[in-house]
Amino acid sequence: MNLTYKILSAHRMSGELSPGAEIGIRIDQTLTQDATGTMAYLQFEAMGLPRVRTKLSVSYVDHNMLQTGFENADDHRYLQSVAERYGIVFSRPGNGICHQVHRERFAVPGQTLLGSDSHTPTCGGLGMLAMGAGGLDVAVAMAGEPYFIPTPRVLGVKLTGRLQPWCSGKDVILEMLRRLSVKGGTGRIVEYTGPGVASLSASHRFTITNMGAELGATTSIFPSDEITRHFLSAQGREDAWVPLAADPDASYDELVEIDLDALEPLIACPSSPDNVVSVRSVAGTPVVQVCIGSCTNSSYEDLATAALMLRGRRVHPDVSMTVTPGSKQVFEMIVRDGYFADLIAAGCRILESSCGPCIGMGQAPPTGGVSVRSFNRNFKGRSGTSEDLVYLASPEVCVACALTGQIADPRDLAELAPIAVATPEHFLINDNMLVFPPADGQSVEVERGPNIKPVPLAEPVRTSLEAPVLLKLGDNISTDHIMPAGAKVLPLRSNIPAISEFVFMRVDPTFPERARSAGQSIVVGGSNYGQGSSREHAALAPMYLGVRAVLVKSFARIHRANLVNFGILPLTFADEADYDGIEPGDQLRIDGVLEGLAAGELRVSNLTQKTTFTVKAALTEREREVILAGGLLNKIKSEQAE
Ligand code: F3S
Repeated sequence: MNLTYKILSAHRMSGELSPGAEIGIRIDQTLTQDATGTMAYLQFEAMGLPRVRTKLSVSYVDHNMLQTGFENADDHRYLQSVAERYGIVFSRPGNGICHQVHRERFAVPGQTLLGSDSHTPTCGGLGMLAMGAGGLDVAVAMAGEPYFIPTPRVLGVKLTGRLQPWCSGKDVILEMLRRLSVKGGTGRIVEYTGPGVASLSASHRFTITNMGAELGATTSIFPSDEITRHFLSAQGREDAWVPLAADPDASYDELVEIDLDALEPLIACPSSPDNVVSVRSVAGTPVVQVCIGSCTNSSYEDLATAALMLRGRRVHPDVSMTVTPGSKQVFEMIVRDGYFADLIAAGCRILESSCGPCIGMGQAPPTGGVSVRSFNRNFKGRSGTSEDLVYLASPEVCVACALTGQIADPRDLAELAPIAVATPEHFLINDNMLVFPPADGQSVEVERGPNIKPVPLAEPVRTSLEAPVLLKLGDNISTDHIMPAGAKVLPLRSNIPAISEFVFMRVDPTFPERARSAGQSIVVGGSNYGQGSSREHAALAPMYLGVRAVLVKSFARIHRANLVNFGILPLTFADEADYDGIEPGDQLRIDGVLEGLAAGELRVSNLTQKTTFTVKAALTEREREVILAGGLLNKIKSEQAE
């Protein structure tokens, strides 16, 4: 058995372990960050439980720490008090990026972790099965309910050889992206194996599992071995260590092999993480910005390496270089060990421990100027500059670029000698920015500033539905069309009445007002409806406005799941030609909804056009129960009450 199946088997609560079949797994730990956390906790509160039922839940603040208005500050107060009330550990703003702090202080080999952030798989670097999900899924996991996924295929990656000087974990994952693309991991868990694993430090492993998210993988995992034991012991947590590995004769659904001896420094060119080439092939390109940080490469080892490369040298005068320590632990240690002075002396700008420029919170690069970053994503515009040119590389390559003012392979800089910073024997342990909850938080008052509003609940499905078609849309409508993000909208993430005023803003700004006056409504769309990000507000806010059904030619997978979670009927045309027979404003009526959902097919009468046609509702038994209850929150609430 491979390691993935060992952990899945130990946590399976329902379903069969067979690729594609739905399984429910027990979740040991959860994490949230501020951008998704407020909604996850509002949803958890709506379930009416006195306390979380996980072994450990942690709430981080790392994404948006700008306090240019009251909204983020309100959210931080809410997050701290709700954590205290419900038994959740709170990591204060400034304590660090969720994935860096979680690996340092909480991750446990062999356990499961569900986080409302796509880079949650980072903790797979020490043998944990760690997955990203929507906020509601995390809220449900906090309630002790299983997390449902289609059983993934397991992609084995056999590592041989050893990393050569100036190569790092970043080059391993960039090589994976070069070979497999950003879709190569879809429906898969990537499991690292082979003799080369033993040569990779914990820090390298975390970089690799972090960016497995860019492969589209469900998660990535390394065995838990002596390197893992050393890392945990250096964090004062050796008692959390257990040895874990695949059986010697383990089988994998697919297998790829990477020879670490043959790896060279790589770089992802604009504007996709899989646009990977050798650094040498783009050497000489002028660079105006270098950023080291993010949950991918901001460990103590990463920053110490950068500092040693910069010691006694100077950042090129045409380059603005920022350094973000991934956590307070990293920050305090580089100060203690003198590396902070090296960075400052060389001309770096130091940012607080947070996501910062990775999520476009400051340090947007100049238009058309090349920015080389140690981060994980370089999608166009993510930096905050719409015409950006962002490259992704290791901290070593970043420093080579900062010193020379152009893209450079450190192997080609004669003044540099290879540097290898080992994992410290003892990390500096100072948990005073973690707030641990009291044994009983019942008396804690949750602080709700004016930006915190209760999460609305859907109404259970009735036997018939009659409503107007308020919008008729074409193909490839994205979640950005449905519920845009951006600096104006994001601070309203905990306030559904306010954020719902932006629903379909880019398509039809009158939609919110028309939806409110209609009471209940139907949206019609073409193919691939709801593509793009996983944001659950694209289902929650339309539900709040009274959208009861979305009728399309086809759905994007995650958005369809979100519609089910929020009690909106996801319907598809049995015959796509019927799409042409519907006009905006038509009044549709569906009778026998409950029987139709059980049969997977419903009859729709178009009262305006005087026609009838068939639609499909291909729901699993579990999804049907969610829809009948009026969404997952209602279902869980009623189950808890039983
Ligand atoms: Fe934050 Fe960027 Fe990671 S937004 S969690 S540092 S991907």
